[in-house]
Amino acid sequence: MSPEEVSSPDKGDLPVGTERGSEVHEESCPFAASRGVLDHARRWDALADSASLCDNDGPERAVEEGAREAWRESVRCIGRLHWQSLQVVDARSITDPDSVFEACVKHLETATNGGRIVPTQTVFGRWEDPGREIRIWNHQLIRYAGYRQPDGGFLGDPMNVEFTEIVRALGWRPPSAPGAFDLLPLVIQCGEQLQVRELPPSVVLEVELEHPEHEWFHALGLKWYALPTLSDMLLATGKELYPCAPFNGWYMGTEIGSRNLGDEGRYNLLPVIAERLGLDCKRSLLWKDRSLVVLNEAVLHSFEREGVRMVDHHSASREFLKFCNREEQAGREVQAEWSWIVPPVAGSATGVFHRTYQLQPRLPNFLLQQEPWRTQRGRELLGRFS
Ligand code: ARG
Repeated sequence: MSPEEVSSPDKGDLPVGTERGSEVHEESCPFAASRGVLDHARRWDALADSASLCDNDGPERAVEEGAREAWRESVRCIGRLHWQSLQVVDARSITDPDSVFEACVKHLETATNGGRIVPTQTVFGRWEDPGREIRIWNHQLIRYAGYRQPDGGFLGDPMNVEFTEIVRALGWRPPSAPGAFDLLPLVIQCGEQLQVRELPPSVVLEVELEHPEHEWFHALGLKWYALPTLSDMLLATGKELYPCAPFNGWYMGTEIGSRNLGDEGRYNLLPVIAERLGLDCKRSLLWKDRSLVVLNEAVLHSFEREGVRMVDHHSASREFLKFCNREEQAGREVQAEWSWIVPPVAGSATGVFHRTYQLQPRLPNFLLQQEPWRTQRGRELLGRFS
């Protein structure tokens, strides 16, 4: 079997409730009673129409256990060897935006831990009815604004242009001189309340990038934040749904060095690096490869210099294979998405490249959900600001 056959990308917009189990689903899952089903589960392929998304008869699990197992079953994550070390903060009694904000700030502080990053998840109230739903609109707690420039180019992170426009519509003002690394505020929704709050810079650890050999690198003025904290995914334990449950691990260098800074659709720095290296993009066939290595070296070197925990892709690959062995020993078959597990540099030089994986989504898990501003409620909330 080719990797493509066992690992397929997100299948996208499947209609919900039209296939197997939809009747059971209606009965057992509060979620099914409204458009909420579509709004939340639209982007989760195989489980979206499954009764098991919310099975009242499912096994009783502590929320900590559900969260750890959700990490263990995350098919796109190479870092799962560490799933049992996840620290879970039970914030399920919180119902107001101020307290959500405070809990997020606390999360950033304790998880960053001065660079000795602690994998952490803060779990807010479970989904009961859409009227009381808690959501964080940001993709991650820490992200940089993106601005479209009059000349068609971008300043900052192009991936966040739409979200930056949304927070502006909600009243946020960018710094008077917008830059490439402006911190976005948090957008917190509790039922009908929507709040935009700036993060205190003191809880956002950032690393300035320099290269161990190329002195010019530092002058590029690049940096990245230390803590990747996904805040838009839904924790589905199999019994309950938590649409707001931000979680973090530590970075693998390539996430920043290859993708965030290297991708054409992101900071697009390969041509800049190539130029500094004196590579002729017309004549050198491998200028992108050489620039990628330099970017990745800079990221690993700089995080190490600052004592911020990060894993390189070769170590991460070895750890993932160890995870696979341990899972097999525990009688579980590892589910994984090949194209996400294989690192975006040196693919075939890592062990994870040379095998295939099963891809059966299992619960507990983290699910993608509809962007909140595209849900009916989100559109209404946004409408109040315009
Ligand atoms: N790839 C994302 C980013 O570059 C972060 C995803 C989660 N990564 C992690 N190491 N836990 O920001």
